[in-house]
This record gives sequence, C-alpha cells and structure tokens, in this order.
Amino acid sequence: MAFELKNVVPWGRNLEEYTNMFALTAHDLSKRIISFGDGPASFNLEMHRQGKEVTSLDPVYQFTADELRERIHETKDTIIRQMQENRDNFVWTSIKSIDELERIRMEAMASFLADFEKESSKSRYLYHELPAKTEFADQAFDLGLSSHFLILYAQLGLDFHLQSIREMLRLCKEVRIFPIVNLNAGKSEVLDGILETFGTDYELIVSKVNYEFQKGGNEMLTLRNHSV
Ligand SMILES: C[S@@+](CC[C@H](N)C(=O)[O-])C[C@H]1O[C@@H](n2cnc3c(N)ncnc32)[C@H](O)[C@@H]1O
Repeated sequence: MAFELKNVVPWGRNLEEYTNMFALTAHDLSKRIISFGDGPASFNLEMHRQGKEVTSLDPVYQFTADELRERIHETKDTIIRQMQENRDNFVWTSIKSIDELERIRMEAMASFLADFEKESSKSRYLYHELPAKTEFADQAFDLGLSSHFLILYAQLGLDFHLQSIREMLRLCKEVRIFPIVNLNAGKSEVLDGILETFGTDYELIVSKVNYEFQKGGNEMLTLRNHSV
C-alpha cells in the first residue's frame, strides 16, 4: 500500500527526550547514529548543532517541508483533543500539562521543518520505509534507534518487525527500541517473538529508562552484537 500523507499524524520529540528514552550517554552521543522512523523529531538538528551527525530515515521525508507543515497544522488539534480525552493514560510529571506537551511538540516540529527545508541538510534526512533494505554497508553505524515506531505499532505484525530489526542489525552494532509497549500501553504483541528470534545470536537487554510518558512505557530493548 502506498504511503500517503493523509494517513500521517506527525508528532516529533526532541534531543532531551531521545537522550532519556534511549539512556544515551555522552559516549553514545558521539557514536555513528542512524534513527529509523525519525519523522519530524528535532533530534537530528539538535545533534547537528552540537557537531554530531545523525542519519534520520522516514517515509515522510518524501514530502516537502510545506506539505508536512500543512499536515501538522491539519492534525494538531485532533491529537491534542485525543490527548485531553485520554489524559489518564499518561504520566504528567516531566511534561506537566497538555499545554506544555503541545508547546514541546510544536517547537520540536518547527525546528525540524526549518532544518529539513535547507538544501544543506538533505543528506541527514533520507526517505526510507521499513522493512526495506537500505543502501548502507554492513555495520556502517554504531547505534540504530527506533523511537515510537517499532514494537509500539504491533499491528504491523511480527514478520514486519523481524525483517526491520534484521536490517537494522545488519547496519548497526547495537539497536535500541523505545518503548516496548503497544499503543494501548499494554504488552506489545510482537515482543516475545522478537526476543525469541534474536535471543540466540544477539545479546538482548530490557532496561528501565528515565522516561515515562505512556503509563508503563519506561523500558527500552537493546539488541547488541555479541562481538561488541
Ligand atoms: C510516532 S512517529 C515517531 C517519530 C519520532 N521517532 C519521534 O519519536 O518523535 C512514528 C514515525 O514512524 C514513521 N513510519 C511509518 N511507517 C514507517 C515505515 N514503514 N518505516 C519507517 N518509518 C515509518 C512515521 O512516518 C512517523 O514519522
């Protein structure tokens, strides 16, 4: 099925959130990082500002900044209304209110859009749709990230996840996925299949991190090459 902008609900997080979700240390931040399903997050730009390079991949990068800006504008009020209706499903300690959430998300997405439309940033934002193979060489990156895509969207199915993670592991010495719950904040239906499939050949670690917005969504999965 074609990836259509009318089905996209853009929502982007920032560097501080990525740092907490993935427990990124100063050493991690200096690694060669590739981030899948990175969407309109400001992680890439904020890293770039610090002189660190991240490669972001997402199917939405096939659209122009103006198209994405318009889609953000079209969908924002609906997302905020849904957040208001479901506010009890979230933890309001770090982000204290829906107003604050809206401000943080809109700031991240505005920063992303300003960066994304610059000619000089084109090589940092690449159109790519999982589970397709990428053009990068084996182990071209140290760290591969998936924030709020893999495992969370369990309805994509186990095969989709296994193929996607296999490609990430081909490219990266280590892969981190956050969160590991599904969209209802329940146990993700694909988690056990992923752990079983990769448990023999890779070191798998489920760890608690210093980030919880979806209630119970405070764990990250790390998959690491035994040789690292
Ligand atoms: C909830 S957003 C998360 C954005 C960002 N990672 C963050 O945490 O702020 C999910 C992202 O997954 C992307 N996505 C959807 N289908 C995808 C696919 N097949 N492969 C890679 N990314 C996909 C969407 O375009 C969207 O940007």
